[in-house]
Amino acid sequence: MSDYRSEIERRRTFAIISHPDAGKTTLTEKFLLYGGAIQLAGAVKGKKNARHAVSDWMEIEKQRGISVTSSVMQFNYEGFCINILDTPGHQDFSEDTYRTLMAADSAVMVIDAAKGVEPQTRKLFKVCLLRDIPIFTFVNKMDREARNPFDLMEQIEQELGIRTYPVNWPIGCGKEFKGVYDRHKREIISFLGDGAANGVRQVEKVELSLEDARLGEMIGEIHRQTLVDDIELLDGASYDFDMEQVRHGRLSPVFFGSALTNFGVEPFLEDFLRMTPPPLARESSIGVIDPFEDRFSAFVFKIQANMNKAHRDRVAFMRICSGRFQKGMEVLHMQGGKKIKLSQPQQLMAQDREIIDEAYAGDIIGVFDPGVFSIGDTICMPDKKFEFQGIPTFAPEHFARVRQTDTLKRKQFVKGTMQIAQEGAIQIFHEPNTGMEEVIVGVVGTLQFDVFEYRLKNEYNVEIRQEGLSYQYLRWIENEEFDPKQLDITSDTKLVQDFRDRYLLLFTDEWNIRWAQEKNPWLKLAEFGRS
Ligand code: G4P
Repeated sequence: MSDYRSEIERRRTFAIISHPDAGKTTLTEKFLLYGGAIQLAGAVKGKKNARHAVSDWMEIEKQRGISVTSSVMQFNYEGFCINILDTPGHQDFSEDTYRTLMAADSAVMVIDAAKGVEPQTRKLFKVCLLRDIPIFTFVNKMDREARNPFDLMEQIEQELGIRTYPVNWPIGCGKEFKGVYDRHKREIISFLGDGAANGVRQVEKVELSLEDARLGEMIGEIHRQTLVDDIELLDGASYDFDMEQVRHGRLSPVFFGSALTNFGVEPFLEDFLRMTPPPLARESSIGVIDPFEDRFSAFVFKIQANMNKAHRDRVAFMRICSGRFQKGMEVLHMQGGKKIKLSQPQQLMAQDREIIDEAYAGDIIGVFDPGVFSIGDTICMPDKKFEFQGIPTFAPEHFARVRQTDTLKRKQFVKGTMQIAQEGAIQIFHEPNTGMEEVIVGVVGTLQFDVFEYRLKNEYNVEIRQEGLSYQYLRWIENEEFDPKQLDITSDTKLVQDFRDRYLLLFTDEWNIRWAQEKNPWLKLAEFGRS
């Protein structure tokens, strides 16, 4: 039993978010290197040598250089068992990021020191705030010219609305980058520049206190003076470190470093693991579910088809919320109302999979999905039934009418469109009383249209024609007894159904929403749908 407790206690499950190119992939790889999960040193990802990061496995991601879907990685480090959830960097996929954050207990936000807070950091961060979890900041690329660190802190606080607590502080930047000062340990970790061995940058570090007489010699008198002034200012003016504020995402511990040159990554990992919580309790229909409770429970936060084109399979990703999972155990799929055996449970390392025998609260497992799971579904033990709170569906903001160009490919078109919609990558609708001849596709960000078209072509061999529609708003009709004939709407407003036959309205603007409400006072409209 104590083994079981300590297995859960040593779990740390977090998501990494960033604007594309801030260095999320590079940082993730350095983490994996420390954990011995990958053997390759140096820049694994490089356009020049055409190697791609382990987490960027999808073809479209490689082509566009952005992460479209999230992947999951697990490794051990210093007694901790770490689950990293990689998230799409592009704001058009912020719904996927949100679902991934549902599975995480904390988040790491990577910021480019030269660029500061970027548009997609803002949108992803807002999504992050919807969850009451700790948010850590890694200010990356200090080996390049960077913005003034005080300005960066101010920008994070003002634009993202979170207070900051710099755990370490940079000394210079770019060619003049000398290292960081650790405010807790009150010592300098010195950056001694690039080694040139085999073209791979190398870094040495020397630990030195602020009072050490050799400091001026080592970093130069000007840097020494600036550092002393900065630290005095910080100690006097910055927020106090308050773990309770950190736990609720109101104060973000900030670390400076350079993922590429491997500087500051290990100290960050160590402090981060100390501060980030073990698996958190989760709300359910029967109250809070404690992770240490001995009955297994989990929820589905992601579904991905065709991860491996050769196998044409579909994997449901589950976050274990309590107890221990053992291979072959019989569980209850609440939404399906059936007892099932989770077959081929896998732990994933991007494309590589490993069949596992057991997993604990905090872990993410992927199970083969014969088409029964939906996002947000609960898996629990048959003798204790409950449902976790669902994952809300974001209302799409862009719509297109979609047809297949070759009518003979209808079967593949229907299958591909349905599967991609079940993954939550798009939402699909149809006009009342029609089938799948023509589908209206709704997305949160327009890049999702491209991904949809690309995947239909590559995975299902279907070409489509998309015609953009001018609707911008969608509302679910919540009336239990709804008769479309009673509805009085403008010609700009469209009544559609989703594939569970729920009715919805598409609007071109807010004026039409108001009109519909005024003319149909009995109409109950909702902005979020339940998955
Ligand atoms: P992302 O996942 O957030 O999109 O970023 P990624 O790690 O792919 O990094 C984007 C670019 O920034 C890469 O260069 C990477 O090598 C570089 N980079 C990451 N961390 C650092 C750092 O600490 N210092 C410096 N100087 N550069 C860093 P690239 O040229 O766009 O790609 P590649 O050719 O190296 O693959």
